[in-house]
Amino acid sequence: MDITVIGTGYVGLVSGTCFAEMGHDVTCVDVDEEKVAQLSDGEIPIYEPDLDRYFERARAEDRLRFTTDLAEGIAGSKIVFFALPTPPGEDGSADLSYVLDAAGDVADLLVEADDPEHRIVVNKSTVPVGTGDRVEEAFADRGLDIGGEVDVVSNPEFLREGSAVDDFLKPDRVVIGTESDRAAETMKRLYEPFVRQGNPVLVVDRRSAEMIKYAANSLLATRISFMNEIANVCERVGANVDKVRLGISKDHRIGPHFLYAGIGFGGSCFPKDVQALARKGREKGYDFQILDAVLDVNDQQRRRLAEQVEDYFDGDLDGRRIAVWGLSFKPGTDDTREAPSHVIIDYLLERGADVVGYDPEAIETTKETFGDQIAYADGMYEAVEGAESLLICTEWHEFRRPDLGAVREHLENPLVLDGRNLYDPARMAEMGFEYHSIGRPS
Ligand code: UGA
Repeated sequence: MDITVIGTGYVGLVSGTCFAEMGHDVTCVDVDEEKVAQLSDGEIPIYEPDLDRYFERARAEDRLRFTTDLAEGIAGSKIVFFALPTPPGEDGSADLSYVLDAAGDVADLLVEADDPEHRIVVNKSTVPVGTGDRVEEAFADRGLDIGGEVDVVSNPEFLREGSAVDDFLKPDRVVIGTESDRAAETMKRLYEPFVRQGNPVLVVDRRSAEMIKYAANSLLATRISFMNEIANVCERVGANVDKVRLGISKDHRIGPHFLYAGIGFGGSCFPKDVQALARKGREKGYDFQILDAVLDVNDQQRRRLAEQVEDYFDGDLDGRRIAVWGLSFKPGTDDTREAPSHVIIDYLLERGADVVGYDPEAIETTKETFGDQIAYADGMYEAVEGAESLLICTEWHEFRRPDLGAVREHLENPLVLDGRNLYDPARMAEMGFEYHSIGRPS
């Protein structure tokens, strides 16, 4: 099948590459000329495990192309995916202009081409409930026959950064939002090879599909804030959140995933989507109280390590060298959007600390935010050299089993604040560290 993907961000690039891997002819369209040139030269602008392997194969077999020309991009294509950004606008609501402008442009081109082929326009971006109707209007307003010439479908994406390719190739479920049987059949055929193990392709109405995405992300974010509050209470009552997690996760109604306490969630999805759903509720006269609390708890949790180190030094961080391990919002990515580490660094800088950061992948992306306001280390031991404290913000593999003796030697002062519960508190105490983690006795 010929497929077009409009937008070559995370979702667009991964989707395009994975559809090509399944044998489809994929053309990716982006307005960013530099990015298209880069991709056409075989360079991938993001770090995502396994993407390069599939990307190279698809390009070598000429099943994955890139262009800035929308007309060329959609010519002959049966399915046009939108994988466009929906950043929060000034008032916090999702800015739909990229999606709606693209819909208008595609509609204009279809009218111009006067091509009677049936097309499916699919929205993969996370968009407020009802956006599919607005996209459909863009086509209907230009005289295109909805159901005859064009069907607008919602197909939310559930991939996680850092395991995006794997998530795309083996989804837990695929959600198709459409009332058109014809569109549903084509979409089911498209996804059949991805769900061979029997995972479902769920066909629902378009609004429910749009809502599923927000409900899933908001529930996951709620689990994290909930566990962070459990951890905060554990600390006060002398319990251990890791043990509590194991105990509750054996209840199959709860399950083992997404129960790790830490320093809050970040990334380009959870904070934005939880906010958008809470806002949508308010807009419709409903106060989604849990979500407001989820966000408040997260703000508080993201500041936590910085406040702890400030308390330790009696409010005086001026000129103190503080090392930060882990700058991306989670391991396996160079993405630093809404990263807890960045909230922490901001806080430390405001109080005059000298921050030195280290991350296996996210130094360059951190430089885009902090430039030379902080120092960057080439390795984790270099980062702690002469530091008065080490703050651990993500659980990259290399942080899980470092040479703690070397860390102890390099640190000027043995304070370690571990936001990801990587080490055994008893062992850390034995080694002479002052060690604090999340929700566990020191
Ligand atoms: C999230 C969802 O997991 C995906 O299903 C969804 O498709 C995606 O958003 C999206 O909407 O595009 P992602 O933002 O890549 O994916 O990252 P996650 O792996 O979900 O982690 C989000 C944050 O939660 C990270 O900061 C992570 O450290 C934190 N987290 C996660 C915890 O603090 N505890 C946990 O137990 C799990």
